Amino acid sequence: MPETGGKFRDTLEAMDHPLQAWRDTLEELGVVGLVREPAPPAAEHAPRPSPSLPSERLQDPRPRPRPATPPPADYAPPSNPISCPTVDIVAAASSLQELCQATQACLACPLGPSRLKFVFGEGDAQARLMFVGEGPGRDEDLLGRPFVGKAGELLDRMIGAIGMKREEIYIANVVKCRPPDNRTPTPEEARTCLTYLHRQIELIGPAVLVTLGATPLRELVGISEGITKSRGQWRRVRIGNREIPVMPTFHPAYVLRQYTQDVRRAVWEDLKAAKEWLDRPADS
Ligand code: URA
Repeated sequence: MPETGGKFRDTLEAMDHPLQAWRDTLEELGVVGLVREPAPPAAEHAPRPSPSLPSERLQDPRPRPRPATPPPADYAPPSNPISCPTVDIVAAASSLQELCQATQACLACPLGPSRLKFVFGEGDAQARLMFVGEGPGRDEDLLGRPFVGKAGELLDRMIGAIGMKREEIYIANVVKCRPPDNRTPTPEEARTCLTYLHRQIELIGPAVLVTLGATPLRELVGISEGITKSRGQWRRVRIGNREIPVMPTFHPAYVLRQYTQDVRRAVWEDLKAAKEWLDRPADS
């Protein structure tokens, strides 16, 4: 069963991944002309996992993610209104910069006190395509930027495969602070942070949202059925006074974990559909 990005982030941080194989798959699918990035450095050219080893997969010797740590039971949000911006303050932010300034000291949920950096999001403030992931991992927490670890490297390649650059897109997460042990954010944490994400989306005004994995699909669009079932099917979400088409796809961390041709092809199809929607003639 596919899982959320959070469950795999620990594992990914300890692994090398054959990112070259993503390019190989695109070549196999006949889309090599769209891949503009140079081949990754030699260290990343690890051999592809053999598809004929199902029993090894069952006994995967790689380190497993540690069990989720529940938030401290006695956590109470501080009453400081600057640390916890009210809905009014968030709604009043008229630019991404203002929104970031208003929210970056947030301690409104248990994730705030343990973060190193608040990961607001980054990219083109007027992007037509926006990706939404689950939450920062270790690398993102250290750098304060979304998708900069192994999953981020793959995301960059996925973006390149549809002929776009990371700078043309906006990338954000459901939660802006790293969940301890890379666990999936709780529904309460996600909902607390969702006010920020909604305003972020309103300010950017993307034509298409791509959700990465189960968490953003559940929290942003309200779809809880498995990501394998729901990926590739257009949805719509109302944010502010706009309805935005949503294309759900697998989280790049899941793709790295399940590095099969089927999974890569599925992501490729989903991103291609999103790009086709962006490129369609205005009146269609
Ligand atoms: N996984 C996510 O969901 N978001 C990030 O920013 C990095 C990894």
